Amino acid sequence: MTDVQQRMRHLIDQIEFHRQKYYTDSAPEISDQEYDALEHELRQLELDYPHLVQPDSPSFRVGGGVADGRVSVPHLRPMLSLENGYNEADLRSFVQRVENAADAQVPFTAEFKIDGLSLSVVYENGVMSRAVTRGDGEVGEDVTLNAKTIKGLPLRVAAWAGYPVMEVRGEVYFERHVFAAVNESRRELGLPEFANPRNAASGTMRTLDSREVAKRQLRIFVYQLMGLERRTHSELLNEAKSLGFPVNEHTCVLQGVDSMLSCTHEWLKLRDQLNYEVDGIVFKVDPLALHDKMGTTTKFPKWALAYKFPAEQATTVIDDITIQVGRTGVLTPVAELKPVHLAGTTVSRATLHNFDEIAKKDIRIGDTVFVEKGGDIIPKVTSVVQARRDGTQVPYPVPKHCPSCHQPVTRDESQVAIRCANLACPAQVERKIQHFASRDAMDIRGLGREWVQQLVKSKLVTDLASIYKLTKADLLTLERSGDRWADNLIEEIHNSKSKPFAKVLFALGIPMVGEKVADQLATAFGNVDRLRAASVQEIADIRGLGEKIAQSLVQILATDSTRQLIQELREHGLIFESKTEDQINQPLLGKTIVLTGTLNRWGRREATALLKQLGANVTSSVSKKTDFLLAGEQAGSKLATAESLGIEIVNEDWLDQWHNRET
Ligand code: IVH
Repeated sequence: MTDVQQRMRHLIDQIEFHRQKYYTDSAPEISDQEYDALEHELRQLELDYPHLVQPDSPSFRVGGGVADGRVSVPHLRPMLSLENGYNEADLRSFVQRVENAADAQVPFTAEFKIDGLSLSVVYENGVMSRAVTRGDGEVGEDVTLNAKTIKGLPLRVAAWAGYPVMEVRGEVYFERHVFAAVNESRRELGLPEFANPRNAASGTMRTLDSREVAKRQLRIFVYQLMGLERRTHSELLNEAKSLGFPVNEHTCVLQGVDSMLSCTHEWLKLRDQLNYEVDGIVFKVDPLALHDKMGTTTKFPKWALAYKFPAEQATTVIDDITIQVGRTGVLTPVAELKPVHLAGTTVSRATLHNFDEIAKKDIRIGDTVFVEKGGDIIPKVTSVVQARRDGTQVPYPVPKHCPSCHQPVTRDESQVAIRCANLACPAQVERKIQHFASRDAMDIRGLGREWVQQLVKSKLVTDLASIYKLTKADLLTLERSGDRWADNLIEEIHNSKSKPFAKVLFALGIPMVGEKVADQLATAFGNVDRLRAASVQEIADIRGLGEKIAQSLVQILATDSTRQLIQELREHGLIFESKTEDQINQPLLGKTIVLTGTLNRWGRREATALLKQLGANVTSSVSKKTDFLLAGEQAGSKLATAESLGIEIVNEDWLDQWHNRET
């Protein structure tokens, strides 16, 4: 092994170790910055030595490129499905069949049935070599690059280094809030929304560009481990867990139909609290010898049963269909329903996603429909009860005009979304202002939905900047306003001017620029001028952002209307910088640093000069005022002093990182 390979190996092991600490154990041992430095160093080595990239490199987790196309791969063993049971009788007859085969009472494991996409993952000599979707059970699709981006799925299992082939199977899924965010951004982009997390997981896993997949934050629960000799299924699950695979925490071993039934009741209560979707409980015979004895049908194993939860579904009537105009002008049809009780709440509206969906499902006003609560909690209409059609139902035509401003709507050929392109459209302005004033953005309390409506209707507010021109006298012209409210609101508006750049950037409501992206942009570029001057590539290179966001952002920032809006907001005193030019050029400004030991890359004088150039104050003795101790080899007493004072200790890689940073 060359030095480079050795270093790569070391970095990969470190990164995997700390990922596990972070994602699996929720107990990180190093700072995000230190972790990033490890990844950065590895990526740099991989760029310099592409022929040495290791198959288990964590760099694949951010997406390892684009697959050539869909490749079919036969499974090592067929991937079977599960027999379903829906009630007590089904469960009793299953248990009876098992006990007849065993001639005794039998323990079963209970696991949640995760509503996602099943995946087989093969490890050769401990390294993930191939991941394949279920497909038809015999042959699936190779999705290895995508599987490498799944959080928490080990790329290497050290304990398997000696085994030529091992396999795990599990369910790939989306956490509810991630699924909601995926759909939100699809809405913004005018792409069709995913109907449920299962479709989203399946669509995502089959995406050809793994860099896109990496952004979606898929997860997996492993429910089968193959190739190891063990006595019971529960032992295998424990083994999988201790090898570092994510195994669902709700797993237990039960004996007797009564305890299995009470498990179904208890776990059904947990269902709404989970941050992923489940649609039942899988009961599996625990002793593996009995699996062999009972065998399988062509479709499913005889030793398992999927006990399905009752669907969170109800039927009701669509009284009307209305249209919501979103912040970026996308028109979303909404079903106004006769109120119906569904999974603990009363539902009176449901999204119809888009007009293609209405046509595809042939949904009409007056129809009796099934409504269902999906992963993102917003109820949706799943299908029409055709038998209830009596000729009085009225189809809903695709609108040609915006219901708010009555301007003609547009439809891109490639997109399902119908959009109102009028930037001054009152509905859009309302939504933009609501977003701008919302708690996570500028947090202007007292500017609730009804006031925004009145302000836009009376034309006192026509865009974001006009909020800052409002006077108390303006506010007092509104219906039901009052002295105290007006005073308060004026003060809130004034106070919002001190919100940091990242919040302002988020508040602008640029498509795809959510809170996190805004934070990353503010940190990376420091101020709006630098951000505007940045190229698509420079923005896309920021961790996790990618080309799509970058392109859209560059385009939007370049428009006259954005330019003008930023200019006006700036004149009103809003903050468009998180760092001054000096701070950007001198990231260590105001930091006191002490050097100790021998550095390899620089002489002491050189390092001191570099630190000073970066803005740091370099001193010779460690005290409470020291921010960092830069420790080289053979560091002596200063290191001990710094440790005892709890001062952050950094090495020359840290300095190198600042030295090489792009400004
Ligand atoms: S065991 C041969 N356990 O349900 C038995 N499956 O409807 C293999 N699923 O294709 C499956 N959670 O994708 C098993 N805890 C769990 C599961 C689970 C979800 C999925 C799996 C399977 C489908 C069958």
